[in-house]
Amino acid sequence: MLVDTFGRVATDLRVSLTDKCNLRCTYCMPAEGLEWLPAPELLSDDEIVRLVSVAVGLGVTQVRFTGGEPLLRRGFVGIVERVGALLPRPRMSVTTNGIGLARIASALADAGLDRVNVSLDTLDRDRFQQIARRDRLDDVLAGLAAAEAAGLTPVKVNAVLTRGVNDVEAVPLLRWALEHGFKMRFIEQMPLDAQHGWTRDQMVTAEEILARLGEAFVLCPVPDAERGSAPAEEWLVDGGPARVGVIGSVTRPFCGACDRVRLTADGQLRNCLFAREESDLRAAMRAGASDEELGDRMKLAMLAKRAGHGIDDPSFLQPDRPMSAIGG
Ligand code: 5AD
Ligand code: SF4
Repeated sequence: MLVDTFGRVATDLRVSLTDKCNLRCTYCMPAEGLEWLPAPELLSDDEIVRLVSVAVGLGVTQVRFTGGEPLLRRGFVGIVERVGALLPRPRMSVTTNGIGLARIASALADAGLDRVNVSLDTLDRDRFQQIARRDRLDDVLAGLAAAEAAGLTPVKVNAVLTRGVNDVEAVPLLRWALEHGFKMRFIEQMPLDAQHGWTRDQMVTAEEILARLGEAFVLCPVPDAERGSAPAEEWLVDGGPARVGVIGSVTRPFCGACDRVRLTADGQLRNCLFAREESDLRAAMRAGASDEELGDRMKLAMLAKRAGHGIDDPSFLQPDRPMSAIGG
């Protein structure tokens, strides 16, 4: 199993399929985009399936495809199909900005994908353009509808609030999600932007989000026992059964219950979003390592996992890779 020195077991593998994206969210990337990973450094479909298969052999039960924007990866449906054929079959979901989902949702469902998380920070077209620097709100909404229709449910919607930009939308977003049967989750902004522009006072905290929601809804905390290793704390909305989730990565860290491990699009295993070291599985694989050797490398990398992200430590250093090159 993939155990660390604190006894935490990684069962949730986040697999980044590309570092590219078709949006330029201000809290993630500069307007001009980033220098993308060179093609030869990207894992091939075969290499991805092989590494996931090794991880499944070591107890991974859940695979989350991420990016950048994972729907930009050609061959995505095929990868889902092949990962879905592994035994024991892992649960599979994708975190996407929703663009292009309308076209591909039913193929993904047929290939065995269980669920989607769609990122959407605003319901206002102008504000969408302001945040994502592209006029694509309608594509995202079409993608959400298609995911629901394809049975990729429960559809979760992730929103990152930014002070003075879309923080006024907490209540409208939740109201809209309730109407559509989507599970709304608000995420605190983390220091993972490529520009290194994150500041604590720009971050809309979990407490503020709850205060805003509390003005329009009656929120009742769901007992901690139901949370397990999930990053989101949940509240019943107006007596339930609908719920809202708040992911307080910075102010309410959940590192102690972390069950996640990450594989970047260029084949580096990261034991944490904020890890400062990576394990180069691509190099090992291309040098002829056996499945067993790759598994040993994964186990070794987990032993270096730290207790927490340490964002509040004076010695905190933002990782070299931005979020878009790690995977959410
Ligand atoms: N902090 C928190 N969430 C972020 N995301 C991207 N960058 C950050 C950040 N710095 C979110 C996206 C998407 C998911 C992959 O992570 O909005 O929902
Ligand atoms: Fe793309 Fe996601 Fe970054 Fe927005 S947050 S630019 S959708 S990778």
